[in-house]
Amino acid sequence: MSNFMTIARKNPALAWCASVLVLPAIAYGQNDRCDPAKIMSSEACAKCHVNEIQVWKQTPHFQTFDELGRRPKAQEICSKLGLRSVKRSEVCIDCHFTVQASNGKNKPVSGISCESCHGAAKDWVTVHNDYGGPTMTKETESFEHASLRLEESLDLGMNNTRDLYSIASNCLNCHTVPNEELVNVGGHKATSDEFELVSWSQGQVRHNFLGNSGQSNSVSSPARIRVMFVVGLIADLEFSTRATAKATSRSTYGTQVANRAARTAMKLYEVQQKIQDPNVQAVLESFASAELRLNNSRSLLEIAVEIQTAGHRFSIQADGDQLSALDSMLPDPSQYK
Ligand code: HEC
Ligand code: HEC
Ligand code: HEC
Ligand code: HEC
Repeated sequence: MSNFMTIARKNPALAWCASVLVLPAIAYGQNDRCDPAKIMSSEACAKCHVNEIQVWKQTPHFQTFDELGRRPKAQEICSKLGLRSVKRSEVCIDCHFTVQASNGKNKPVSGISCESCHGAAKDWVTVHNDYGGPTMTKETESFEHASLRLEESLDLGMNNTRDLYSIASNCLNCHTVPNEELVNVGGHKATSDEFELVSWSQGQVRHNFLGNSGQSNSVSSPARIRVMFVVGLIADLEFSTRATAKATSRSTYGTQVANRAARTAMKLYEVQQKIQDPNVQAVLESFASAELRLNNSRSLLEIAVEIQTAGHRFSIQADGDQLSALDSMLPDPSQYK
């Protein structure tokens, strides 16, 4: 912990930018769970998830497909980067659209869709809802089968909602923009400044119908919200660390992503003072070692992987019922976006 405190007392963003200067740019794959060949499109979900589809259609994730190309700001970014149009530019498509392969060609088919967040579905779609044959129901399915089904879906590429870390990582894979040129030359935002997982997932984006027989769309339970809050911060730290690893100059991009990492680490430190959790402790210690990197050969990317590992462990092991000490830090429902 003393390492982290040392960073916290200095100007963290500047310390980060300085250490970033000597790092090579490291490639980082975007949306590896969205292989166009395995995208089915939202129509393949509509039969069974009518309510979810209705909610999604009211969100910017859906609307960006039609709207983005018309925005003057999008045209401005494209022209600064020498790109012809949003829909023909791979760099924009990666985060704003869902791309499906058909007849050997990759084509944007919608905005940010079910599969952008839950993973390309071709391999898991018939597994995730199979209670064990047509005669079985959720009620008659054995515990063993349910666990197996969950495990198999994950293996086949699903971002299941019971694994909060994978869901949060997916949000931050887009809401942190790890592309220096896009930000410094194109003028795109480096991050969604206000992004925080609870408030950004429990407002307009929320589609929790399963537990309520499709009757209502409820906010997640207080216990889940607490875990989600911490998971969101850890994933944020992982992705701002990854983004910082890609900075090659002291500029808008480098400063903003490094600042975000530092700010998020401070928040997590505040969290840790309240909950004293070993996995959060591991995250903070990994991050603290970033400053020691100069005396030590580890790169920011390796640290990001350590943060990811501890964050994942936290999301599996944490018991939200035991985390009520966090309640004063949680966003008020009036702040849900
Ligand atoms: C034939 C019906 C059917 C289709 C088609 C279908 N689903 Fe489902 N889905 C279900 C059922 C039933 C459940 C609840 C499973 C359970 O009880 O664990 C579910 C659960 C889910 C969950 C929640 C899993 C969890 O454990 O939290 C997600 C996410 C999901 N589906 C996404 C999708 C997406 C994305 C598509 C389209 C690519 C899709 N589903 C297509 C029936 C379907
Ligand atoms: C790494 C993911 C990512 C990539 C790549 C990306 N965007 Fe975005 N973009 C986002 C996110 C996230 C937002 C929402 C930001 C916010 O919270 O306001 C956004 C918002 C925008 C906005 C609206 C906000 C504003 O500044 O007015 C425009 C316009 C835009 N993007 C254009 C583009 C264009 C054009 C490209 C390709 C050259 C592109 N984006 C590539 C993630 C991305
Ligand atoms: C594939 C990339 C991608 C993923 C994954 C993604 N988003 Fe987004 N999100 C965007 C982009 C791009 C926009 C802005 C769209 C626009 O304005 O054209 C956006 C907009 C939003 C908005 C609206 C913001 C506003 O200012 O109104 C919310 C809320 C949001 N996202 C929450 C989430 C959450 C929560 C997750 C994860 C559960 C998530 N997003 C996952 C790309 C993504
Ligand atoms: C922006 C990312 C995002 C998009 C787009 C998205 N989901 Fe989700 N989905 C989530 C998150 C996050 C949760 C968990 C929310 C929570 O626990 O409060 C979730 C939960 C679910 C659940 C379980 C809800 C419950 O009641 O337990 C189902 C089913 C589901 N999504 C299906 C879909 C379908 C179908 C679509 C497309 C129409 C879709 N999702 C689009 C992020 C997304």
